[in-house]
Amino acid sequence: MCGIFAYLNFLHPQSRKKILQILVDGLRRLEYRGYDSAGIAVDGALDGERANRHIHLLKQRGKVQALNDLIDSCTDLDFSEELSAHVGIAHTRWATHGEPSPVNSHPHRSDDGNEFVVIHNGIITNFKVLKQFLQNKGYAFESETDTEVIPKLLKYIYDTTADEKLEFWQLVERAALQLEGAFALAVKSRRFPNDLVCTRRGSPLLVGIRSMDEVSSADRVPVLYSCDQQLGNERVQLGKVPGITTYAPDNERTPIEYFFASDPSAVIEHTNRVIYLEDDDIAAVRKGCLSIHRHKRIEEDENMVRSVHTLKMELQQIMKGNFEAFMQKEIFEQPESVVNTMRGRINFEEGTVTLGGLVSHLSEIRRSRRLIFIACGTSYHSAMATRQLLEELTELPVMLELASDFLDRSTPIFRDDVCFFVSQSGETADTLLALRYCKGRGALCVGITNTVGSSISRMTNCGVHINAGPEIGVASTKAYTSQFISLVLFALMMSEDRVSLQPRRRAIIEGLRVLPDLIKEVLKLDTSIKQLSAELLEEKSLLLMGRGFNFATCLEGALKVKEVAYMHSEGIMAGELKHGPLALVDSNMPVLMICVRDGTYTKCQNALQQVMARAGRPIVICQQDDEEITKLSVGRQLRVPPCVDCLTGILTVIPLQLLSFHLARARGYDVDCPRNLAKSVTVE
Ligand code: AGP
Repeated sequence: MCGIFAYLNFLHPQSRKKILQILVDGLRRLEYRGYDSAGIAVDGALDGERANRHIHLLKQRGKVQALNDLIDSCTDLDFSEELSAHVGIAHTRWATHGEPSPVNSHPHRSDDGNEFVVIHNGIITNFKVLKQFLQNKGYAFESETDTEVIPKLLKYIYDTTADEKLEFWQLVERAALQLEGAFALAVKSRRFPNDLVCTRRGSPLLVGIRSMDEVSSADRVPVLYSCDQQLGNERVQLGKVPGITTYAPDNERTPIEYFFASDPSAVIEHTNRVIYLEDDDIAAVRKGCLSIHRHKRIEEDENMVRSVHTLKMELQQIMKGNFEAFMQKEIFEQPESVVNTMRGRINFEEGTVTLGGLVSHLSEIRRSRRLIFIACGTSYHSAMATRQLLEELTELPVMLELASDFLDRSTPIFRDDVCFFVSQSGETADTLLALRYCKGRGALCVGITNTVGSSISRMTNCGVHINAGPEIGVASTKAYTSQFISLVLFALMMSEDRVSLQPRRRAIIEGLRVLPDLIKEVLKLDTSIKQLSAELLEEKSLLLMGRGFNFATCLEGALKVKEVAYMHSEGIMAGELKHGPLALVDSNMPVLMICVRDGTYTKCQNALQQVMARAGRPIVICQQDDEEITKLSVGRQLRVPPCVDCLTGILTVIPLQLLSFHLARARGYDVDCPRNLAKSVTVE
């Protein structure tokens, strides 16, 4: 969880006010990752005694706006002073250790003099041992966080290695080697003014570069391997140091700016040139030059480089536009986002599907013993929603696993298994750990993600990018429908040469062709769903029932209602009604049922009758031309256009996304930042 952002300007004078604004704007973009407190570190006035600037920390409980207000009211800083070179670091937090409060907020510091200040995303699992060690050395801790050990460890290493004259990045490297768990870190120090060091292990981090010199996507930053005798030889291999050693402007005096961030949405307004850091890379900026250092592992190529990528996203893609919230914007984007998922992959005339990332692995997948889908939350639901079709078209056993449970059970995995890791962010800790586990057992690992350059997309053997575009709202909506379609495309690709399945494949491909228009049609229900949300406003609970292709829709709808409207909601398999849940049904219990004309239609009608026989008056999501439902005296009906059975889950989930959105708004909640949650769950 948490978002980290750092801004470094070198020979590019900026007023302190502008620097603070860049940092706060960066945090606003990352706020979806955590938003219970925020903090910032910038240089203050020159300290005559020490001939450098002291580091000024501003930290506040609450959202980024609260930090912004604190900055505005700060009287200790000269906002107009121009700084030709400067490093600012900023953090938005999702609490894991210690309640949200200014003292627990980042940046954390080494001492009262703020010699080293650190922002961190992730969890340091061995912080207790390190804290004890440092306390024994006389360090006094002020927060309850795991992070505070890092700046204190840096100061300890700095003070105890004075004779070695370590460079800034070497200090961070030594500290990082002591850390266990997951982290992305940015470190600022008054000992190394205007320099910045960042590193990561398990948490995402990228560097955006803006220079007057053209930063080209052909640019590469060679990785510098280090040999530090102090660290013990088993982890250290001396690598070749390539000729070019750093990324630097052609002319060393050219102004340059660097933006370090947890994700590209925070840098896109400044630059589209980025480098994704790998686990254990140490990125250092010294006198405006970026260098990347790491210890060479046996299996690593000696001439490893980090390439400069060009971000394809546009700023407007991550702006709210005329919508009240990102979640609402993302729900309404679905007619386009599903097209983007299919673009260039389906040939509607010839009835063929090509997922470029999987082509060379297709025969291996076809020969596999079973397909295992591993995910969390909404991503798990997308696999569940398509499982029946995957079984039908691949004719292979398809297993679904919640990543956390999968790990708890140490599930047996074999070399001839194919494991799919479905994740919008590509950074979810449980899913990532499951990926490491399956990779270690030799299974082919396939990523289904929305985030290019994410850990899952880089660690898997192959994969599919769902192309839904940036999803900012914590509640996943358009990513769900794009994951759903990506998995349908995979099933279609797997069955391309099965003669007996061709009529079925053609019907599905035709369904996909008309899907964007059908989604537009469903979105027209918005006004009546808003009215429905007003009727349900005071309710304590909402039961969602369905089966077959739409059981996953019920689970996903219930998750949305819980997540943003804070209302108890449960997705119930309609076939299980008589085995328990029916006892909950009476005239007071709000029930919503999905009843569409697929293989389970008659059974769903039976469930409807069972609920009505207990004085229930269910709201029904059904199809536009369904006269049979009209004849029953059910409650409100939300009618969606008919379509091929295996795609109805896309049309039936959208009313539930809208319902949760309107319920949350009517209850006065911040839908984009629901309490206790974060977009990217990078902790176990
Ligand atoms: C969805 O609305 C949730 N915020 C959550 O369940 C999410 O889908 C889950 O945390 C998995 O995230 P991922 O897709 O990024 O791996």
